[in-house]
Amino acid sequence: MAGNLKGLVLAGGAGTRLRPITHTSAKQLVPVANKPVLFYGLEALRDAGIREVGIITGDTGDEIRAAVGDGSALGIEATFIAQSAPLGLAHAVLTAAEFLGDDPFVMYLGDNLLRDGITPLVEEFRASGPDAMILLQRVPNPSSYGVAVLDGDRVVSLEEKPEEPRSDLALVGVYMFTPSIIDAAGKIAPSARGELEITDAIQYLIDQGRRVEPHVVTGWWKDTGQVEDMLEANRLILDVIEPRVDGELVDSNIEGRVIIEEGARLVSSHVRGPAVIGRGAVVEHSYIGPYSSIAAGCVVRRAEIEHSILLERVHVEDLDARVESSLIGRDVTITRTAAKPRAYRFVLGDSSVIGLT
Ligand code: DAU
Repeated sequence: MAGNLKGLVLAGGAGTRLRPITHTSAKQLVPVANKPVLFYGLEALRDAGIREVGIITGDTGDEIRAAVGDGSALGIEATFIAQSAPLGLAHAVLTAAEFLGDDPFVMYLGDNLLRDGITPLVEEFRASGPDAMILLQRVPNPSSYGVAVLDGDRVVSLEEKPEEPRSDLALVGVYMFTPSIIDAAGKIAPSARGELEITDAIQYLIDQGRRVEPHVVTGWWKDTGQVEDMLEANRLILDVIEPRVDGELVDSNIEGRVIIEEGARLVSSHVRGPAVIGRGAVVEHSYIGPYSSIAAGCVVRRAEIEHSILLERVHVEDLDARVESSLIGRDVTITRTAAKPRAYRFVLGDSSVIGLT
């Protein structure tokens, strides 16, 4: 294949489905096992031998740039490309045209996670040299995704979030393209949701008789666009972490796969893995149960947490029921007050979800 293979990672967009977490911050930076989702994708590109990575950003560009820096800590060279508005995945490709030049590239949606990485797939793309390669996976709810219809090894048609899907093969958010996709993106019209769909641009290539190769991936894949998916991705990653204790344990015990980061301090607490406790977190007189990711700087006192993600600097104190299946945004405080009359007191962002018993 001609040209130097580049990466294009999409980290713009609106993130409406993860609100309120993403009202003010990037959905691609929500942590899974205490690492931003976005970093898993950047590392997958690095592992496939790709160094030059363009990162599409939107309203949350400052935050993305601050987290990624020049990319060297992740083994890549990052170039940030501002998209004027979230006008679609094909619009993002057009926005990146100058960065992409005449080179082939791997496009990676910044909220997608693939367990097995993409290295063999990139090798296959390099070796067989099609105009495009798409990754597919069978799903129970195809209408939430782009959907492909195959005839043997040939892609017949693609449709974005069809109401009546014609197959159960969803488009995974990783695509391999030659520059022919830039031309295609310039030819299509906006969809009913007002976006230039990459699905339509690939369909355009098919209609032009170009070679689009499908590849069905079998290892797990997650689009972390919704809270349930985020919690599931967190479970899948925590299941394979390498346990280590760099923090301090005082009258505490841990069992199973557990990471205690440097500067974290556990006092009279019990942690049952898989779980990760971030840098400088304080856990006192508490129970942290399976599938919990407690980010840096959190404080948990006299509380029980299970199957939840706490972002940086969350304070949870004096709760008499367990916190379960929760995603709690940065700097949130949940405590009990002694004030009478007995009442709840809330300071919550728009679209917060609270489940009280
Ligand atoms: O996750 C796989 C699915 O991703 C595919 O099955 C669909 O065919 C594909 O259209 C896409 O669907 P989503 O509706 O999930 O895409 P979303 O709007 O969540 O955007 C995906 C990523 O790209 C996300 O990290 C935000 C970013 N983005 C999105 C748009 C629309 C941009 O950077 N710019 C944009 O204009």
